[in-house]
Amino acid sequence: MTFDYKVADLGLAEFGRKEIRLAEHEMPGLMAMREQYGDSKPLSGARIMGSLHMTIQTAVLIETLVALGAQVRWVSCNIFSTQDHAAAAVVVGPDGSADAPAGVPVFAWKGETLEEYWWCTEQALKWPGEEGPNMILDDGGDATMLVHKGTEFEKAGAVPDPSTADSEEYAVVLSLLTRTLREEPQLWTTIGQGIKGVTEETTTGVHRLYEMHKAGALLFPAINVNDSVTKSKFDNKYGCRHSLIDGINRATDVLIGGKVAVVCGYGDVGKGCSESLRGQGARVIVTEIDPICALQAAMDGYQVSTMDDVVGIGDIFVTTTGNKDVITADHMAAMKHQAIVGNIGHFDNEIDMAGLYKTAGVERVNIKPQVDEFRFPDGHTIIVLSEGRLLNLGNATGHPSFVMSNSFTNQVLAQIELFVKTAEYPTDVYVLPKHLDEMVARLHLDALGVKLTELSKEQAAYLGVPVEGPYKSEHYRY
Ligand code: NAI
Repeated sequence: MTFDYKVADLGLAEFGRKEIRLAEHEMPGLMAMREQYGDSKPLSGARIMGSLHMTIQTAVLIETLVALGAQVRWVSCNIFSTQDHAAAAVVVGPDGSADAPAGVPVFAWKGETLEEYWWCTEQALKWPGEEGPNMILDDGGDATMLVHKGTEFEKAGAVPDPSTADSEEYAVVLSLLTRTLREEPQLWTTIGQGIKGVTEETTTGVHRLYEMHKAGALLFPAINVNDSVTKSKFDNKYGCRHSLIDGINRATDVLIGGKVAVVCGYGDVGKGCSESLRGQGARVIVTEIDPICALQAAMDGYQVSTMDDVVGIGDIFVTTTGNKDVITADHMAAMKHQAIVGNIGHFDNEIDMAGLYKTAGVERVNIKPQVDEFRFPDGHTIIVLSEGRLLNLGNATGHPSFVMSNSFTNQVLAQIELFVKTAEYPTDVYVLPKHLDEMVARLHLDALGVKLTELSKEQAAYLGVPVEGPYKSEHYRY
């Protein structure tokens, strides 16, 4: 295969390699996958296109997939989330050098334009001189969406019209599809037909998959990795508990203690974010639309209110909803001077950035990369992190290795399931069986010195569960 790639600077590879080495120790689940499957190589023949934040942790995932036999091409799933030293180290590979890279083709750098972002996704989906990818590993569903949209236009013989797009980003996607339809008319149909399945990392991507399946449009089976308990109840919660304040601190270094922090959404991500802000001494106010989550927030001791009611008292605002227009341009106009506004949900439309840019008289002052001050005509300003894109990856380095080891061990198991047992997965959206979820947790206990109590045969019979698990019914909620 031609070794094409595009990253910021291969000279950063040595630094990346050192951090990968440290991360491997903190990722016992992934290292156990290498141990268990390194010889049998169940992913031999797999050509995996990955679209997931190109971080140090993702580098360990990529090299695990390679150790299990896969060929891989990779992009980031966000324009700001790439760690350039991680991308360089993956391209160079453990045995290559900057002059003779011998790793995995990566198309990602921190600070892509939207055009560059979608160009990268296209490059990773095309396998020069090969049949094309046969697996997708997605985060947020952009790669999956591109294959589906492209196929849809090719089937309909329709030419996309970028001027009809409802966002700047979708206009870029439509322009890309217009070009590929002209240059390679059956590109996306061919790629789509070659895909055995996709494993999806996050809540928003999973939501898109269920919608497509409901509409009868899903082209291949999918495993919803997000809803493994060892993913969403750990990465979304404890990961964000760590990386939210890391992002706020690196961006602003403002003292969080004593401030009023408004967290929009009290799902898994919102729970972790609220806890971390409270841990720093902030007074946290939650907004919710779901009465169950609102009640949980209240019982956890948070004030629950609406954006309209608290917009004038918040010092820090964080959206965690996966929804759109949660903070509007009018909200931002009504905020205190130098209020901090950030999003940790997957897409940037939680905060109406488009509306803010269009607001008459608003002036943008760039403070440093991924930190902007917006000045309103009355003189007050707000500080927006990562242009409304997920701030924990834009302003900091995302979740730490140990929690990502849980998420990514689920990813590896899901890739093996779909690739090896393709016939057992007709097109639908699946979650991994519970015994694998429990196995992922088990693989992370020793590192934390956890001593697990073993059920006796009598106790197991009394509860009606096998001694070796699974221990909970499918409807148990953790
Ligand atoms: P979730 O579904 O558990 O929580 C979202 C919550 O937001 C729900 O409780 C929902 O009722 C609430 N909500 C929806 N609209 C709202 C509104 N207008 N106002 C207030 N609350 C509203 O989803 P989860 O797992 O917490 O994920 C949230 C987002 O974060 C998703 O986009 C997901 O993909 C993303 N995510 C980001 C991560 C990161 O590292 N930045 C990590 C994991 C997930």
